[in-house]
Amino acid sequence: MNDSILKAIGNTPLVNVNFETPATIFAKLEYLNPSGSVKDRSALYMIEYAEHHGLLKPGGIIIDASSGNHGVAVAMIGAIKGYKVIITVSEKISQEKLQTIQAYGAQTVMCPATSFIEDPHSYHSVARKLAQETPHSFMPNQYFNIVNAQGHYHSLGPEIWHQTNGKITHFFAGIGTGGTISGTGKYLKEQNPAVKIIAVDAANSLYSTKGNPKPYKIEGIGIDFDSPVHDYSVIDEIIPVTDEQGLGMLPVLARTYGLLAGPSSGAVAWVAQEYSKNLGKHDIGVIIFGDSGRAYLSKNFYGEPQPSVEQQGVHHKQAHHLEV
Ligand SMILES: Cc1ncc(COP(=O)(O)O)c(C=O)c1O
Repeated sequence: MNDSILKAIGNTPLVNVNFETPATIFAKLEYLNPSGSVKDRSALYMIEYAEHHGLLKPGGIIIDASSGNHGVAVAMIGAIKGYKVIITVSEKISQEKLQTIQAYGAQTVMCPATSFIEDPHSYHSVARKLAQETPHSFMPNQYFNIVNAQGHYHSLGPEIWHQTNGKITHFFAGIGTGGTISGTGKYLKEQNPAVKIIAVDAANSLYSTKGNPKPYKIEGIGIDFDSPVHDYSVIDEIIPVTDEQGLGMLPVLARTYGLLAGPSSGAVAWVAQEYSKNLGKHDIGVIIFGDSGRAYLSKNFYGEPQPSVEQQGVHHKQAHHLEV
């Protein structure tokens, strides 16, 4: 029995995805964490680290910038631990994620979507200013705090290693703050330096466009700034994915594999699907499904709905049958 929702973080399932490959590919369903994403792990680690180091005290206020999921995780953790939470978000956020942060009782601040995180109007700059001006506040600072990656090093990395009995050969994850790939990649490389760590970036990001970023729809991933959280020493390859490729996977994942996943999972799955065509039967790949498609239903990424039963005329026929 778990004594708190926080104890239910982690131990998410690893499920087989039958892509056309001789290799075995597993999806790690991080969307089954209590607040719905991989960010439960890093948010809890950063907050408890701050508590242990006296950076966050009872009655304190947690302020941070988030593309959504980190904010949702912080809001859930703040609710159970009794901290006030303020999350700055960008206009790109899905309505569902915004409302989820608010449902946990946190305050939100809407900021324009900017191409550069250093822009004074960006959600990150606004969070930093708010934290500087607010007494008793603590900013986890997920984009620049290496404790973010340490959370995954101590949690996601060991879990994946044990769940695959140490047989994982390829690890695929999106790169946003870089915490997931850097922390997990470091742990896996320490166990077996031959494990390939493959990062998935948004094709329009600052990194993948070589300094000329353009807007993109996929939320949560994209290297748009330099940060100590990005540990390139553990990453073997960075593969760019377009919106069309990543979002195009979403109906396939839902309708063929029963996996209702978010856009970053679509991007990572697209890379794993293409990459695994060249893998062998002894290869074992793990792909991170960071969050659920339920947080994006309003964005219509999941294909046309089937016509309703009524439109097919069944309703009409039933009425006729009754008359007879
Ligand atoms: C759904 C989703 N996938 C992937 C990522 C990227 O993870 P990280 O920030 O650890 O690089 C994020 C980050 O917000 C996310 O929300």
